[in-house]
Amino acid sequence: MTRLAAGIVWLSVMLLSLPVMAGQLEAILYKDPQCGCCSGYVKHLKAAGISVDVRNADDIYALKPVYGVPEELYSCHTMLIDGYVVEGHAPLTVLGKLLAERPDIAGIALPGMPSGSPGMPGPKDESFNVYGFSSGAAPTVYAVE
Ligand code: CU
Ligand code: CU
Repeated sequence: MTRLAAGIVWLSVMLLSLPVMAGQLEAILYKDPQCGCCSGYVKHLKAAGISVDVRNADDIYALKPVYGVPEELYSCHTMLIDGYVVEGHAPLTVLGKLLAERPDIAGIALPGMPSGSPGMPGPKDESFNVYGFSSGAAPTVYAVE
């Protein structure tokens, strides 16, 4: 098998088996103690086999600049996982893509708290633009879900 083919097989395995592979993944998730949808997102992560250290932050908005989340991308919670920052209710398929592709960015964000995203109630009635961000660069769309 060529290296490229091996890489593609590895990537597909990573993407398809996130719930299985994720046994080794550990995340730290900062949330407001009052936030219910944050706990909803944590449930999705745990269901995918990711172990999550949930930390209540009395001022979650003071933490976001510390982790380099651009203000226009703010959501409710901020997660650290495998060297990346993940802001908000980002779909787990996009999280899997991030961890498989390992792009040279600081993190990804699904801004706001759109209806139908993991942990949020309601129907999914729009496509989600998940942005990639890095310090000193304008965010760009990393994935559309
Ligand atoms: Cu939320
Ligand atoms: Cu949240």
